[in-house]
Amino acid sequence: MRMNHFTAFALLTTAACVNLAGQVAEKANEGYKTKEDRERVAVNLGDPDRVERQKPVELLEAIGVTPGQTIGDIGTGVGFMLPYMADAIGPSGRVYAEDIQDDFLEKAQAVAAEHGLKNISFVKGDPNDVKLPENSLDLALILDVYHHINYPEATMASVYKALKPGGRLAVIDFYRSREHPSMSEERLKNHIRLDRDGFKAEIEAGGFNFDRTFDHLPYQYVLMFRK
Ligand SMILES: C[S@@+](CC[C@H](N)C(=O)[O-])C[C@H]1O[C@@H](n2cnc3c(N)ncnc32)[C@H](O)[C@@H]1O
Repeated sequence: MRMNHFTAFALLTTAACVNLAGQVAEKANEGYKTKEDRERVAVNLGDPDRVERQKPVELLEAIGVTPGQTIGDIGTGVGFMLPYMADAIGPSGRVYAEDIQDDFLEKAQAVAAEHGLKNISFVKGDPNDVKLPENSLDLALILDVYHHINYPEATMASVYKALKPGGRLAVIDFYRSREHPSMSEERLKNHIRLDRDGFKAEIEAGGFNFDRTFDHLPYQYVLMFRK
């Protein structure tokens, strides 16, 4: 088939749009491309001062994590939350610590070993599939990760599948419009592609039932859903 200029232009434009629609979080992921980038991110994620900034114990309490639960830590990073989750679920619970980057998963494994955590399974996901066992989770926790997900529709469909019937989803993310202690207004706007209502609408469109929302920190909110 011979293409005229118009057809070629239309095809190229369509391809560009499909790509843009597919990878929605490119701006947020600019600083994650190389191993050196991720080394820098890892230092921040594992910074001991982060306990004061993130308040992990209070967060899990507010979400209602209880002993015996199975949790999916979607995008575990360097495993910052793992010791706190292990404490909250006790020896009869389990955490699936998932990430798409091998170097983060290795660091998370080292954190689990350092703390002697026995009930953590590590899972390498794909950018469009968390690859967790079906109907296995009481809770999927997505902390500072949703705005990094490039294929939210496919990824959240895989999270939905991994939840037990009635299982809960907690998405914790940053307000774009509220002052943040370490992100400038411009960086916030670039890094976080939608505000809370936008993320809520996307997640509801994937079949999750909205339950409630509350602020965890002055600049960070929690969205809770049910399967
Ligand atoms: C800002 S870090 C947060 C890490 C961790 N949740 C924490 O709070 O310490 C974002 C993480 O999301 C991961 N990530 C990005 N896209 C992902 C996807 N589609 N599925 C799972 N994890 C993803 C990154 O590899 C990175 O570890």
